[in-house]
Amino acid sequence: MKTKIQEKFKSLFGEEGILYASAGRVNLIGEHTDYNGGYVFPGAINFGIMTAIKPNGTDMVKLFALDMEEYEEFDLASEQLPKAHWPKYVFGVCKEILKRGGKVEGFNAVFAGDVPHGAGLSSSAALESTFAYALNDLFNDNAIDKYELAKIGQSTEHNYCGVKCGIMDQFASLFGKEGSLIRLNCKTGEYKYFPFHPKGYKLVLIDTRVKHRLADSAYNKRRESCERAAAAIRRNHPEVEFLSDAKRLWLDEVRGEISQEDFLRAEYVIGEVQRVLDVCDALERDDYETVGEMMYQTHFGLSRLYEVSCEELDFLNKLARKCEVTGSRVMGGGFGGCTINLVKDELCDHFIRTAVDEFSRQFGHEPKIYDVVISDGARKL
Ligand code: GLA
Repeated sequence: MKTKIQEKFKSLFGEEGILYASAGRVNLIGEHTDYNGGYVFPGAINFGIMTAIKPNGTDMVKLFALDMEEYEEFDLASEQLPKAHWPKYVFGVCKEILKRGGKVEGFNAVFAGDVPHGAGLSSSAALESTFAYALNDLFNDNAIDKYELAKIGQSTEHNYCGVKCGIMDQFASLFGKEGSLIRLNCKTGEYKYFPFHPKGYKLVLIDTRVKHRLADSAYNKRRESCERAAAAIRRNHPEVEFLSDAKRLWLDEVRGEISQEDFLRAEYVIGEVQRVLDVCDALERDDYETVGEMMYQTHFGLSRLYEVSCEELDFLNKLARKCEVTGSRVMGGGFGGCTINLVKDELCDHFIRTAVDEFSRQFGHEPKIYDVVISDGARKL
């Protein structure tokens, strides 16, 4: 990838650029908890985005997306949001740095990546983090701390792309470390690295290759449900800033005051926050059976209470149980994308073969299998 990017950079801009990269992510457990001030447990992966970049001494940002063979440019002084989808991410990152008093000047960039789109592996966060990291290094002497860079990526989604996401994806992409998952408290920003080398197990991702329409607006609606539930609980318990601060009992107290739908969403979130802690405890005892059981519980919650699963994902989850996979669940925002599976080494081949065969027979297309490795996040190469 490196050579191709540099060759293109040279042909477009007559010299070589400086290389930066960042990563997509997996999340072992803790889904839809980030915007509720709860815990998440992600790690960066060996699929990412790479860019060659160089200041160009003008006010123009000139971008070439190698995978799509598309060129776009915008003026840093302009408020006009680019029309095409992908330049919005770079535009947003530039604007959010400037908003915070940081510096961005014109630059040329050529980028490429191998994070599959729509698979729930955070290709957009990888793109934001790559540019946030690079622009911090090139124009700001790395004065913006990495957590703020993650917030810059998150605000890009909120203000320029219409997704009211949490901080998990950008955080993982920037803070990822080879061989470690990171437990992040999304309320306080405290985090801890957990070495993750499950002996005798593999993490297998199965991509349904479906992305259901309106996923972004459905995501935002989930967030609104949680905020309504938290507001109702707060009336009785003013210390509740986020839904994750609430006890299950407190949710029961407001059952009659909120819709059944909001109640179920909140029930899922409160349970999920606890499951992350239980998984971390289990990991410290090398108790992968408990980790796996929690993953199945998360899937149940995401499917029945939070309702962000779909037929294809539920099918894969059921199949995992049938194949005696230790843990399996939908990963990321949902509405399509991947399941993440914790599989005993000796069951792996059989599970993958069965999943590919039975899924193809049921839905008429093959799922994709990704063998992920927990890797480093944002960096200069
Ligand atoms: C998407 C969002 C994240 C997070 C997950 C669900 O990936 O970008 O902030 O909310 O969904 O856990």
